[in-house]
Amino acid sequence: MEAMTLEKDQTAVAPCGVAPAPPCAMVILGAAGDLTKRLLVPALYDLVLEERLPPQFRLVGVAVTPLTTADWKQSLTDMMRQFVAEDDGEFHADHIDEKAWRWLTERMTYVQGDLNDPEMYRRLRDLLSDLDKNAGTAGNYLFYLAVPDRLFGPAIGRLGAAGLLQEGKDHWRRVVIEKPFGHDLESARALNAQILKALKEHQIYRIDHFLGKETVQNVMALRFANGLFEPIWNREHIDHIQITAGETVGVEGRGKFYEKTGALRDMVPNHMFQLLAMTAMEPPISFEAEAVRAKKAEVIEAIRPMTEEEALRNAVRGQYGTGTVLGRRVKAYREEPDVAPHSTTETFVAFKLNIDTWRWAGVPFYIRTGKYMSRRRTEIAIRFHQAPFSIFRGTDVERLHSNWMILRIQPDEGIGLEFAAKRPGPTVTLGNVSMDFAYKNYFKLAPNTGYETLLYDCMIGDATLFQRADNIEAGWRAVQPILDAWAKNPPKDFPNYSAGTSGPATANELLARNGHGWRGLD
Ligand code: BG6
Repeated sequence: MEAMTLEKDQTAVAPCGVAPAPPCAMVILGAAGDLTKRLLVPALYDLVLEERLPPQFRLVGVAVTPLTTADWKQSLTDMMRQFVAEDDGEFHADHIDEKAWRWLTERMTYVQGDLNDPEMYRRLRDLLSDLDKNAGTAGNYLFYLAVPDRLFGPAIGRLGAAGLLQEGKDHWRRVVIEKPFGHDLESARALNAQILKALKEHQIYRIDHFLGKETVQNVMALRFANGLFEPIWNREHIDHIQITAGETVGVEGRGKFYEKTGALRDMVPNHMFQLLAMTAMEPPISFEAEAVRAKKAEVIEAIRPMTEEEALRNAVRGQYGTGTVLGRRVKAYREEPDVAPHSTTETFVAFKLNIDTWRWAGVPFYIRTGKYMSRRRTEIAIRFHQAPFSIFRGTDVERLHSNWMILRIQPDEGIGLEFAAKRPGPTVTLGNVSMDFAYKNYFKLAPNTGYETLLYDCMIGDATLFQRADNIEAGWRAVQPILDAWAKNPPKDFPNYSAGTSGPATANELLARNGHGWRGLD
């Protein structure tokens, strides 16, 4: 934007208190797709508003769709306008700042080409070296793979063959990879091996958009920036932990993808395990990327491996039938487009796991996620041990309540602490009360798709919020016994929950066996 202070002083600190990223070109492979329109470009726009992009920034979109640069810009502009009009997309804004939007669109170029065609990469290389000369992008390139996962390996191979991944003393080359990173342990290992032929580990940014959520990052702040909680964050004080991601969306036209994925692969080794790692990791010795990532990998590696029999006992799956979600009648999963009429793909998963460390021995962790549940709610619920005995003998107090700490990831972001208090009055009776912290009461939340932080971090080379090869493989290793056991034993009772409910009855039985119960979603 001509008038932006960045134009005058590139090293200035942006309004959000951080310096702009270094000069670079970001290249999105798969630029005509939904991810680009719905999340990446809106996030870049937010970064422009926050003056976190340098004046030399350039955005190159690559896709096979026949478009000109002008067409591409127009389709992105239309999308931004639609967001404002509808205001229920991933990106929220009540208007588009025309100056900031122009700043970004002026820096865009579209390259039409096939990702399997080596000639396309030569054209891309020529364009990027022109940008280095004429726009000052300094040879720093960030490649974003917004493409189907089968293209990850081949596209990286071709970028490498075109010399585009070669770093130098004064320039960097980085590649961002979206999920799914493999579909089981073996394929994840093979993909890691394949891309590590063309890239060094430090050049790879495996993205998990849950880590872009402020509330997820805040779990570390809660635990390690306060003296109060960490001393009780262990088996001595914690009875069990429930991690839930309930969704009120179905498969939203993604039947083809979802049929071969299912809830376990789609949500657990990535998003749910990020929440688990943040909650259960040991304190890192610093906030350096390697220190944090090592502790996260360690705790996922400490998940106790299950035998086939344990997997069948400790994990339950569900598939939704017809039902009513948020007042709207919806079809059964098996009636969705591109879904087999007798599909055995799960849309719900719940399981119990144990972490074999001194901190967590004997503390069950319950994980639950599903589509078309009664309420959208992602939370980490920590139940503390009850008081060791009741002193309230001879009073009206029949039983003691449990203490819970609830980390609300989304929506209604915040933290709640539930405990008992004496009800006012002449007799002794107790009521369950709650102390509550809501983000919106303390902080002005910037418009955020979750990708702003992650994209900026890639540009400045901060890998703290990204997954290393070992993090990814540890996640798959932990769920592999469930995948294997389920593949051998197809479900017989699908569909086994109605859309708009909290999942199948077997999920309740899983906890009841230990005398526990899920927290309600409503
Ligand atoms: C995606 C999954 O990775 O995460 C989707 O593929 C899921 O199926 C989504 O709906 C959930 O993310 P969020 O940010 O909407 O909670």
